[in-house]
Amino acid sequence: MTYQTKLPFPAPKIHAPPENADYRTRLDAALRQNFDFHGHDTAYAAHNFHSFPAKFPPQLPRLFIEWLTAPGEVVLDPMSGSGTTILEAMLTGRRGIGVDIDPLALRLGKTKTGTVSFEAADRWGARIWQQAQQRLHHQPDTLTAAMDTFFDTETRKFVDYWFLPDTQRELFALATEITHIPEPAIRNFMELTFSAVIITKSGGVSLARDLAHTRPHRVADKTPRSAIEQFKKRLKKNLRGLTQFFHTPGHADLVASNAQFTGLRHHIADLIVTSPPYAANAIDYMRAHKFSLVWFGYPLKTLTNIRRKYIGGEATVGIHFAPMPPHAASVIATVNRLDAKKAKVLYRYYTEMTFALREMYRLLKPGKAALVVVGSSTMRGIDTETHLCLEEIGQTVGFESAGIAVRRLDRDKRMMPARRNTAAASQIEARMYEEYIIGLYKPAH
Ligand SMILES: C[S@@+](CC[C@H](N)C(=O)[O-])C[C@H]1O[C@@H](n2cnc3c(N)ncnc32)[C@H](O)[C@@H]1O
Repeated sequence: MTYQTKLPFPAPKIHAPPENADYRTRLDAALRQNFDFHGHDTAYAAHNFHSFPAKFPPQLPRLFIEWLTAPGEVVLDPMSGSGTTILEAMLTGRRGIGVDIDPLALRLGKTKTGTVSFEAADRWGARIWQQAQQRLHHQPDTLTAAMDTFFDTETRKFVDYWFLPDTQRELFALATEITHIPEPAIRNFMELTFSAVIITKSGGVSLARDLAHTRPHRVADKTPRSAIEQFKKRLKKNLRGLTQFFHTPGHADLVASNAQFTGLRHHIADLIVTSPPYAANAIDYMRAHKFSLVWFGYPLKTLTNIRRKYIGGEATVGIHFAPMPPHAASVIATVNRLDAKKAKVLYRYYTEMTFALREMYRLLKPGKAALVVVGSSTMRGIDTETHLCLEEIGQTVGFESAGIAVRRLDRDKRMMPARRNTAAASQIEARMYEEYIIGLYKPAH
């Protein structure tokens, strides 16, 4: 089932690629474009269903997809996050394949690229909040008792710490109704709408101050809004997102796997556009995502185990470190002189990215490109030079570098790092507003 009310679809304005140019010339020219996209509409189609830190402006993958692939070809994002690349692949008639390890990211990608009937979603939405409201009114004690068996002790403690008892009952009533929806696409859509009520900049209906961007801080005297009212509001907004969607010849698949060893068959992709997590867990996806995932039956322990497999985690025991090329080795050594523990964390990141880049090389067809978008990180005041190190590591696994493009981030849309006063620190801080697009080309022969 598809839905379309707003045609023609507001396609982003992107310059046309050079005519009759060969692939390498187009790749080089694409990397010289302006990637700032400030003031562009980034919320069209389903792109704004749910907040997600460090998500692409859709114009970024769109440019590479349009310049470097033809309709019907496969566009892969092995760390697909909120699914921006695969949604753009789909909207342009390509086949998107997204891989991620994070349960919320997988649901988000599925929902954004799935087709849901507006009428059915609208009907189910009203039913969910009405039934939830009735249960709250008539059976509050039954709800509380059901929560006691639903959560294990550790998860219950977490829920008690971050949510007031009234909010818990509201959320549990909503989540229970959502679980009863038989159609997976609609259930996913509702789960995300539910999740968007919790993971917000204001910390939503939890006692956290900000869940969309930073480490959650508990605000004891916060009076959270009614979860049911927030769900109703968000539902309206997400349904509006649906009405902008339109039928496309493309489609997308989501695969729950590890970007380092995806299990996908080799030479599957005509293009890769992806962005790995920042070094050293600078954005901890699970820290926020568990606030909504616990309501769908994920025990805290399971989520902690999944989190260990994220690229860029802090634990270093049991890691088999890969040999590093000279520049990456020297950055790790510089950090090591100041802080041996942090250096190991960075070493883990570059090791995992070695495997992830090797996997991308395997999955890509010869004569095609991977675009890897990374931000800057600092460790003990040392710039990790992630873009240069990943370019170098990419070359060690067989890619040719096609160069690195710089993208200025929109300050209004970024989380701000804490201010420091030294000149060196402010230089680094300035670089926090830049992102790098590493162009990696897999030679044809
Ligand atoms: C920077 S985000 C990607 C954002 C994405 N470009 C977007 O537009 O939403 C990085 C993603 O990498 C995922 N990730 C971390 N470790 C992973 C792994 N080992 N395998 C696959 N995905 C992983 C995280 O769950 C997160 O969704």
